[in-house]
Amino acid sequence: MNKSRIISPSLLSADFSRLEKDIRDVEQAGATRLHLDVMDGHFVPNITFGPFIVKAIRKLTNCILDCHLMILNPDKYIEAFIDAGANTVILHIEAHEDLTTEFTKIRKLGCSAGISLNPDTPIKAVEPYLDLIDHVLVMSVHPGFGGQKFIKSALQKIEYLAENRKNRNFVISVDGGVNIETIADVFQSGTDIAVVGSGLFSADNRSQQYRDLRNA
Ligand code: DX5
Ligand code: ZN
Repeated sequence: MNKSRIISPSLLSADFSRLEKDIRDVEQAGATRLHLDVMDGHFVPNITFGPFIVKAIRKLTNCILDCHLMILNPDKYIEAFIDAGANTVILHIEAHEDLTTEFTKIRKLGCSAGISLNPDTPIKAVEPYLDLIDHVLVMSVHPGFGGQKFIKSALQKIEYLAENRKNRNFVISVDGGVNIETIADVFQSGTDIAVVGSGLFSADNRSQQYRDLRNA
């Protein structure tokens, strides 16, 4: 069980015209994992990037790369993201009828498997998968965009997961609306990894903001 309270920068809010500098800044402040938001314009209204960019980011950093796939038919792309350098492939429970085969495949290919659920999806929906995954990503905003307000009902989901983890090894992470104001509650409720996008990259000094978030 991981209780180390990690802050994972979400590159969605980074400045892609100077991505290497943004990555370096958060690494210098202590970041050990990065969160990559893959959006297809179908599962969510926004479009971001695919394996091609993940591969480029892989060249820039040794951080753990958590690839959060907000896409339909994720089964088609698992290998491509792992080949590109993903360390965790996170699939949405809402994107596919049954993810058992996909999680088994991800792990077989040497990668960590993650499951994510939207704010409107009850936490019980992930229950059947908890022995098949390494990572649960609780969405605290409706996926698609950075800079939204934290949805507080995510805290109860995190508490439920933390209380019912038993001897299973998955980490609990939360994604969306985490910032200086909300981060203390997020960790208090049992989160291992807080994903922070705009709450980090909206600051001019990313290293300082990372440290401020850690101290908050
Ligand atoms: C939203 C993404 C998040 C996003 C969070 O769909 O999954 O990872 O980057 O951004 P903030 O921290 O700004 O809410
Ligand atoms: Zn995300």
